[in-house]
Amino acid sequence: MNLIEINGLYKCYNFKEKPRIYAVHNVSLTVKKGEVLGLVGESGCGKSTLGKMLLKLEQPSQGRIIFKQQDITDYSFKQMRQIRNSMQMVFQGTANAFNPYFTVRQIISEPLNNYSQESEEEKKKKIVAMLERVGLNHTYLTRYSHEMSGGQRQRVGIARALILNPEFIVCDEAVSSIDYALKNQILTLLSELKRQFGLTYLFISHDISAVNKLCDRVVVMYLGNVVEIIPSINDNVCHPYTKALLAATMAPDPQKRGKNRVLLREGEALKIPEKGCVFQNRCLDVQKVCETEQPALVSQNNEHYTACHFCH
Ligand SMILES: Nc1ncnc2c1ncn2[C@@H]1O[C@H](COP(=O)(O)OP(=O)(O)OP(=O)(O)O)[C@@H](O)[C@H]1O
Ligand SMILES: [Mg+2]
Repeated sequence: MNLIEINGLYKCYNFKEKPRIYAVHNVSLTVKKGEVLGLVGESGCGKSTLGKMLLKLEQPSQGRIIFKQQDITDYSFKQMRQIRNSMQMVFQGTANAFNPYFTVRQIISEPLNNYSQESEEEKKKKIVAMLERVGLNHTYLTRYSHEMSGGQRQRVGIARALILNPEFIVCDEAVSSIDYALKNQILTLLSELKRQFGLTYLFISHDISAVNKLCDRVVVMYLGNVVEIIPSINDNVCHPYTKALLAATMAPDPQKRGKNRVLLREGEALKIPEKGCVFQNRCLDVQKVCETEQPALVSQNNEHYTACHFCH
């Protein structure tokens, strides 16, 4: 069953100017109930914008968002309130994601205060239980954001997102800025929580290895467009951009990394071409057709989709 479906979603931040620049360009996707959908791509390609639109924290410029069979695209703030507690986000950037004048207790209470009628004592109990779930304890209740490490803040962000028992969580770079051991710990925690609470995640990351551990399917974005959807990153990837992303990050041995690397044409401005394939300026295999015709996202087999004229 599809938990979320988006159709032809666009986001443009400079609507009044020309040329219009799209942070997200004609993206259609489904998120199935219970799956972990990965979203990867380089900085600025529109991952956070897409994640926020799924939760209606950003309003799309065009396109539809369907959550559990309801079209929520034009829902007002008030209408969103009824479903807001079932969709939450772990925000990117732990250092400035929280109000600096709030204690951990206040940070995690905020969603509870908005949505639940429980007494202060009951809320506190709930918060302590959730802190323990993410590997912290009651001593953190009185701490401020600046009194914690990045990894501890990440966990508070996860606890805050989980406290209302949501069905769907967007994790935006939830493990990108933390060290290897803690990263594994948090990934394990996210998997456990998923199993325990039957969650569905959109997991946004530059870090393909993190995505690889957790995700059932992976969506690859380039300059606002989806260029490939893969059942799992170990499957045969086909799009030249996905290959370059993988080659740049997967090999642990730096010498091998150099050898296997599929190079991008570098030094090209990251400008969206007016027509043709969005990746043409940096693709080593670019052909005439790529400059004139935009490749559609088509199915290779089953769950594998690519937008490239030469992936068939
Ligand atoms: N509020 C905004 N106003 C104007 N432009 C914005 C706004 N938010 C994002 N953008 C632009 O939209 C594009 C996509 O941004 P987004 O934050 O979605 O990228 P991202 O893929 O999450 O990048 P990163 O990996 O660095 O977090 C960028 O070019 C960014 O500058
Ligand atoms: Mg981002």
